[in-house]
Amino acid sequence: MELQKFLDYVQAENKVEPKDMMPEDYRKLLVRQISQHAHSEVVGMLPEANWISRAPSLRRKMALLAKIQDEAGHGLYLYAASETLNDGTIRADRDSTYNDMLAGKAKYSSIFNYPTLSWADIGAIGWLVDGAAIMNQVMLMGNSYGPYARAMVRICKEESFHQRQGYEILMTLCRGTKEQKEMAQQSLNRFWWPALMMFGPNDDASPNSQKSMNYRVKRESNDALRQRFIDVTVPQAEFLGLKVPDKNLKWNEETQHYDFGELPWDEFYEVLKGNGPANKKRLETKRKAQRENAWVKEAAIAFAEKLELEK
Ligand code: ACO
Repeated sequence: MELQKFLDYVQAENKVEPKDMMPEDYRKLLVRQISQHAHSEVVGMLPEANWISRAPSLRRKMALLAKIQDEAGHGLYLYAASETLNDGTIRADRDSTYNDMLAGKAKYSSIFNYPTLSWADIGAIGWLVDGAAIMNQVMLMGNSYGPYARAMVRICKEESFHQRQGYEILMTLCRGTKEQKEMAQQSLNRFWWPALMMFGPNDDASPNSQKSMNYRVKRESNDALRQRFIDVTVPQAEFLGLKVPDKNLKWNEETQHYDFGELPWDEFYEVLKGNGPANKKRLETKRKAQRENAWVKEAAIAFAEKLELEK
């Protein structure tokens, strides 16, 4: 298919479907992004799973379990969307993409390489991490690849619940004892900058953005989304009575946005290289799960084959 015709097609807000002709670099860009996104969902279950057995009440435990199960479901929709792009040349089947992640060849979101040290971190993950994820994913509902766009609609609905449950945990802590409020503040201090890094590098340092925008995969830039997130989140922190850990944060009357300090980009790139506080632990946990649970997969395949033979 002629490239210009394809660009005209997606730029006129038409959707591309799995069997349609598409440029190879469009297919590659989607496989890269969708599979990284899927890995983020399943690795993202780990920091929260750390607190299931220590949730402070049955109600909290049930909500946390439901949320973590939702993340597994998001991974499932996204791996399924990625698989629709498998064309024999570009490998996009679930085993290949997942094994790339286990081998450290494929990225997942930097945020999941930070540990969850207190119960308040579960609140901060819902409020900030899922809040940042929604900000990014609402725009992805309008991306040009049909299966990815449709998966995002459902994911966004569930992410909204996640964001609310996180904020409610922090609201409870902030209205509790002095120690509980301090726990919430410490958590905000730890998660603020890593949450801002979720949006990716600044626009002028983002190698994929231009192509992604042209292909209507990304609909808004990393910096635009980060700014919007800050603008909506700072008043939420104020409502909690917490202080955002950025001495340069200031409302700008002229731009009608918050000005904010420089992100710790060295830390971001170290985490991407595998040197974050929990990178090694996360990958080792996933590798161990794959080894130890291989028999479940084998049994399921054997059972499915048996059913097929009996037909
Ligand atoms: N964590 C890890 N890697 C990142 C991050 C991050 N926070 N931000 C950017 N990167 C990577 C990109 O994947 C890219 O790597 P690659 O070229 O080796 O694949 C590189 O850094 C340069 O960044 P960009 O050129 O800006 O990359 P891109 O245009 O793909 O934008 C973004 C990055 C915004 C994360 C985009 O891929 C996206 O929207 N992805 C889908 C949403 C998603 O994956 N969210 C993860 C969190 S979801 C959750 O909370 C469960």
